[in-house]
Amino acid sequence: MRCNLISTTDVKEIVVNVENLEVSFGEKKIIHKVSFNVNRGEIIGFFGISGAGKTTIIRVLTCQISQKNWTGYVKVTNLNPGSKKNHAKILSNIGYVPQLEELNLYYDLTPLKNVEIFASCYNMKKKEALAIAKELFSILDIPEDTWNKPLKKMSGGEKKRVSMAIGLIHKPDILFLDEPTTGVDAAKRYDVLSYLKKLNRRLGTTMFLITHDMEAALIVDRAAILRDGKLLEFDSNSNLITSLPSKGLVARFSIENLNEEKINIIKQFPNVSNIKTIRVGNETFEVLMDDFEKNLSKLIQFMMEKGLKLNAMSRDVAAFRRYFQLRIQEEEEKERRIRMQQETSEEVQF
Ligand SMILES: Nc1ncnc2c1ncn2[C@@H]1O[C@H](COP(=O)(O)OP(=O)(O)OP(=O)(O)O)[C@@H](O)[C@H]1O
Ligand SMILES: [Mg+2]
Repeated sequence: MRCNLISTTDVKEIVVNVENLEVSFGEKKIIHKVSFNVNRGEIIGFFGISGAGKTTIIRVLTCQISQKNWTGYVKVTNLNPGSKKNHAKILSNIGYVPQLEELNLYYDLTPLKNVEIFASCYNMKKKEALAIAKELFSILDIPEDTWNKPLKKMSGGEKKRVSMAIGLIHKPDILFLDEPTTGVDAAKRYDVLSYLKKLNRRLGTTMFLITHDMEAALIVDRAAILRDGKLLEFDSNSNLITSLPSKGLVARFSIENLNEEKINIIKQFPNVSNIKTIRVGNETFEVLMDDFEKNLSKLIQFMMEKGLKLNAMSRDVAAFRRYFQLRIQEEEEKERRIRMQQETSEEVQF
């Protein structure tokens, strides 16, 4: 695992420490020995397929899971969320924006009225809270003519942005966002991400983004990849991609009538120690390999010799999406091998 604990050579203030976190519900262990640190001001992306444990880890950090369900050393702004006496202080240091369907806003009230209510929970003065809210609403492009209309009249994306502004109203050190782009249409998704980056730059807020949206990798400083409650990777997008064969150079082929049989032929391309293959479309297939430049022409020749009809070919550098797919695929293959070995040894014993 590439676990880059400190992202730059600067000595930075660590705002979240997690060492050997394990979470269980009843007999079921959900999170297995997860460790990572986060520096002040970083944007961290939590990526993983559904059920990987992303929300569970964030719920531990945000005091939402009782200490009886977890073990490990966890500090959020230097305070242990396992201890109830720290909850009020931690909650004043953080903001939490839940998934769209769980937004806990007052839909009959206006965005500004919502701000007033939440700000009063932090003992903020109304005037100060409204001034901050108006600035945040502007940064987040929430149309001014909606600020005084009931929230229920706003679109899903606008409600989500109001929720983000409210999450930031008390100027928290850390903002946790669960699925910030879910429910936001494709054309606006990047806008939401760039608003977050803008806020991070302007306010210096550390951010955790839990997301299925691979585009979010464009704004994060480091990405955590989770699967089945295990942290597989925790590093910058560029470090992850350059760890791929030939630093992530990709050959994309369009092959007539592509099927499993043809894919298996390509996988047998000889003399390359490290070759990764992935089907990315009905007739499209990608190959990453060591000594890319040297091996590419040989691979094309090999495919032609095997009678594969190439309709198109292009080359590119892998994006985070591809890294993620390959890393999950690698893990699945490893598990399949272990299962097969176990089954074989059980058969031998039998
Ligand atoms: N309170 C709970 N009791 C029992 N099991 C739970 C509880 N909370 C979560 N789980 C289980 O833990 C696993 C991880 O759930 P979690 O919500 O953290 O996943 P996730 O990565 O956030 O998924 P998604 O992308 O779907 O939101 C799931 O199998 C879920 O069913
Ligand atoms: Mg979740």
